[in-house]
Amino acid sequence: MKHFLALACLLPLGLAAQTMNLTPKAKQMTVGEGTLTLPQEFCVSYGQLPDSLSIEAARFASAINATTGLKASARSTADGLFTMQLDSTASPEGYTLDITPEGVSVKAGTSAGFYYAFQSIKKILPANVMAGKYAEGTYTLPVLSIQDEPRFGYRGFMLDVSRHFFTVTEVKRMIDLMAAYKMNVFHWHLTDDQGWRAEIKKYPKLTTIGATARNTRITDLDLGTYWTNRQYGPFYYTQNEMREVVEYCRERHIIVIPEVDMPGHFTAAMASYPEYSCWPDGKHEVCIDGGVYSDVMNVANPQAIQFVKDIIDELVDIFPAPYFHIGGDECPTYAWEHNEQCQALYKEKGYTHYRQLQSEFINEISGYLKSKGKRTIMWNESIGADGADLKKVEEHDPIIMCWTPCQKDAKKAAEQGLTNIVTEYNEPTPNAEKGTYYICRTQSNEPGEPKGPGYGNNTVKACYNYVPVPADTPENLLPFYSGVQATFWTEWVENPRYLHYLALPRLICVAEAGWTPQEGKDWDDFLKRVTLDRKMLDLGGYEYSKHIFRNQK
Ligand code: ACM
Repeated sequence: MKHFLALACLLPLGLAAQTMNLTPKAKQMTVGEGTLTLPQEFCVSYGQLPDSLSIEAARFASAINATTGLKASARSTADGLFTMQLDSTASPEGYTLDITPEGVSVKAGTSAGFYYAFQSIKKILPANVMAGKYAEGTYTLPVLSIQDEPRFGYRGFMLDVSRHFFTVTEVKRMIDLMAAYKMNVFHWHLTDDQGWRAEIKKYPKLTTIGATARNTRITDLDLGTYWTNRQYGPFYYTQNEMREVVEYCRERHIIVIPEVDMPGHFTAAMASYPEYSCWPDGKHEVCIDGGVYSDVMNVANPQAIQFVKDIIDELVDIFPAPYFHIGGDECPTYAWEHNEQCQALYKEKGYTHYRQLQSEFINEISGYLKSKGKRTIMWNESIGADGADLKKVEEHDPIIMCWTPCQKDAKKAAEQGLTNIVTEYNEPTPNAEKGTYYICRTQSNEPGEPKGPGYGNNTVKACYNYVPVPADTPENLLPFYSGVQATFWTEWVENPRYLHYLALPRLICVAEAGWTPQEGKDWDDFLKRVTLDRKMLDLGGYEYSKHIFRNQK
């Protein structure tokens, strides 16, 4: 392949670049004149690259074959229309992409880098390619040069499958969206008060009693919000199904972080095994509505601690990611204050606040996870709640996932030398000017707008314009801001259509916040690109909110 256009004949970021269908926007892109029309048959040359890297050529070729009617193949010979070369100076997920009328050059240092380069090419091609839909036709790439890498290492999406359950197929459809927008962490909120969704072989009642609610409330885009007045469940994932999702993600350079929310938001577990609760002889029931409940685990009971460790033992085998999320949010201390074992431990340790029981629990469990090679992630209450014992919490270097008060605790974490993740919740705002990354919230105040979980509303524009790292953040704290997450709670969201409607296009806003430098972000430009994405979403059969597309010329 001949080499690229000299930079001099490339145009600065101009009109063509602005309308390029590449989201998230690349760090640097220069669009030239001319095009490359893909021939009926072509080859992606990977040269001497090892299998771990050349597999990306094969994956790209098979995506082209499945969607275009062209015949692409991956070969080690050096004469391909596409060439891959190792660039040992590239950052871990970075890549360089040069398209000329003669061919395409892709350079990266890792399989993830090559993968993202090919994702960019698929995204720039007609929408059916990324949507995975077959359409014969002419496939043309613009001449361009891209030097790209993500702003953040953590670009997450959280899905709550406890309040309502989504099948493996439905989960994969969300993973496809993450992959299209270069997100790399799937945070799987597997347990909560309203349902336990992960098979644990040692504790089968978790997925019989714990996975079943006697009623549930849902919202339907056509019918509105209503109680079904029927049993919901049992719904859960077998261990093989969880492995299947991990593998699906792995092929898309997405890691899966399981969350077992504990010691609060633990009612489904307590309904299944009340002996580990603070009132073993009391009534326990899987919750049917959202909220914060007092039926938390008895953290002073060594058998309850062992119960949690047994659960972890089974899950760490399924999820190879070096992280494990232990929740820790919204945990009332009421049950501990009224339980003799907890009272005794409180006295023995000389505590002054019942929250210290939780800090001790976090210390024990994150130490256990560390012994299994995992770093613990936890919600920011772990460091921000009144009475939290920072020394205990910090010992095993946890990562603090910040929702509310997001920025205050993100800064607090960074000042303590703890890595943070920003997933802003903030307070209800009638005019929705303050953006949040809770992409399940209602999207506007317009009459008839279906209600999403969480208070207040959050427009697409507000979500896009939210600044995850405030401009005045001191330089020395910046390395602790590891990234952003779009978070989706499903209290009223039971079907994929409504899930997609609320998540889109806000998921794309957070994906761009994760990838594109702050100075490269621009709402008007985003709006143009996300408008182009409607085709891909339509082809993929995704529902999405239409507010921002109204009244556009
Ligand atoms: C949360 O929204 N309770 C983390």
